[in-house]
Amino acid sequence: MRSIIIAGNWKMNKDAGQTSEFCRQLASFLKEHSHPRVTALLAPVYPFLAQAREILESTPALVAAQDVSAREQGAFTGEVAAFQLASLNIRHCIVGHSERRQYHLESDALIREKLIRLREQGITPILCIGETLAQREAGETEGLIVSQLEGALQGLELDAGEDLVIAYEPVWAIGTGVTATAQQAQEAHALIRAWLSQRFNPATAQRIHLLYGGSVKPGNIAELLSCADIDGGLIGGASLKIEDYQAMYATAAGLAGTAR
Ligand code: 13P
Repeated sequence: MRSIIIAGNWKMNKDAGQTSEFCRQLASFLKEHSHPRVTALLAPVYPFLAQAREILESTPALVAAQDVSAREQGAFTGEVAAFQLASLNIRHCIVGHSERRQYHLESDALIREKLIRLREQGITPILCIGETLAQREAGETEGLIVSQLEGALQGLELDAGEDLVIAYEPVWAIGTGVTATAQQAQEAHALIRAWLSQRFNPATAQRIHLLYGGSVKPGNIAELLSCADIDGGLIGGASLKIEDYQAMYATAAGLAGTAR
């Protein structure tokens, strides 16, 4: 059975001191409450990745980047390359978040290039996909999910043991307080897993973690994690407060041993 990932996407929040403080609090929480089947993951902004990694070094928590350049190296001012993340021992990276697609006009083709750069460095991509409200209302959810998966993963194969995480984040649920119902989320996740099964193979589809993102909070995480194909959360706002993060981790730990 797949473990659960409680992933905090901090977006452009927290300064250096706040990042360290949260990481120290998380480290001491995990000393007592770490569960072997629940993975804590945090994605701070680039400049604080090293300090977060260092503070969490003695814990099982993972530190992820929020993005990566599609280029390998060189004259690309402001960009950060996959090899640079790897040199900090960063092993996970979010790609294709809807905010990147919306504000930076990232295409599936560009996201695919980023996936390739990450895999060259042995970094696990956390690929974000999801529809807008207009697309859902127009009945385009399934088609959009499939076209984002096809676009980002075109021509890519997954070797045995190589990892990929997919986060389904309906754009209308991000930062709005409106969460997809457990049924809506499970339907999308089942579709994604069925697509992965066809595109790769059933065993690969079964081992890939599918995270739900969009207004996940302590009050709704249990219901979401109870769904068969939801293997964790990619959490924005509610991951910024240590009390909420701990509460969500504890809920996941309570469910981790059950047949979700
Ligand atoms: P919120 O949890 O703030 O809705 O953000 C979700 C998200 O975009 C995580 O990547």
